[in-house]
Amino acid sequence: MRVIIQNKPEQVAKWTADYIVSKMQAHQQQSATPFVLGLPTGSTPMQTYAELIKLYRAGAASFANVITFNMDEYVGLPEEHPESYHSFMWRHFFSHVDVRPEHVNILNGNAPDLAKECASYEARMKQAGGVRLFLGGVGADGHIAFNEPFSSLASRTRVKTLTMDTIAANARFFDNDVTKVPRQALTVGVATVLDADEVIILATGHLKARAIRHIVEGGYNHAWTASALQTHPHSIVVCDALAAYELKVGTYRYFRHLEGFSNEEL
Ligand code: GLP
Repeated sequence: MRVIIQNKPEQVAKWTADYIVSKMQAHQQQSATPFVLGLPTGSTPMQTYAELIKLYRAGAASFANVITFNMDEYVGLPEEHPESYHSFMWRHFFSHVDVRPEHVNILNGNAPDLAKECASYEARMKQAGGVRLFLGGVGADGHIAFNEPFSSLASRTRVKTLTMDTIAANARFFDNDVTKVPRQALTVGVATVLDADEVIILATGHLKARAIRHIVEGGYNHAWTASALQTHPHSIVVCDALAAYELKVGTYRYFRHLEGFSNEEL
């Protein structure tokens, strides 16, 4: 696992956007096939999306040959609801870049047969050649996508019932009313994320510090599902100093040193 500890959230976003674009460009130099990019929702990736949009507007990035797969979607929330992950993605990213609508894949939480929708999502990923890079966030309880604590680390795309913690955390998007937050979601599984060639997770702010400690320093454990990244050959955690706050001083310095920070910056 590579751990990038930046000082501020804006540096996390800049680092990540530059990294994604460099990977897209490297792929495009070698192959005419689309770059397959897995994407998250949440407040954390919003700044990264803004940086990607800046790069696109500056002519430094194009998404015309990119296929996207989102991590998750609420069950039973109309697509046009402002808090559906469909709406989120178009509002914060897709409608600002040159991605082709037919290349955008988001789970349909209103499908008549949810199990069939999940199976077909996995099949679509395979058909696209597999996800090249999966970007994710992390919940305060260490969940990745909607793989709540104690989800199987071998899980695939499926329906998940959300924990009270997640419902309470997401109530801020639903007038602070927990009763308005959907109870279930469709989500890629932990194993689905791990199938990607590369996985990056973002974490900013002190609310994520405990999760980052468990994911980076703790054991491989279904209680902190993002800890499964420890078994991935190319996983990167990109966090700011606040999210790294609970790491041991030695861990913090080790990773900062590896990334070329000077002795004064350690
Ligand atoms: C939800 C999403 C996750 C996201 C998490 C954290 O649970 N399903 O993909 O990582 O929220 O969101 P935020 O970045 O807003 O803290």
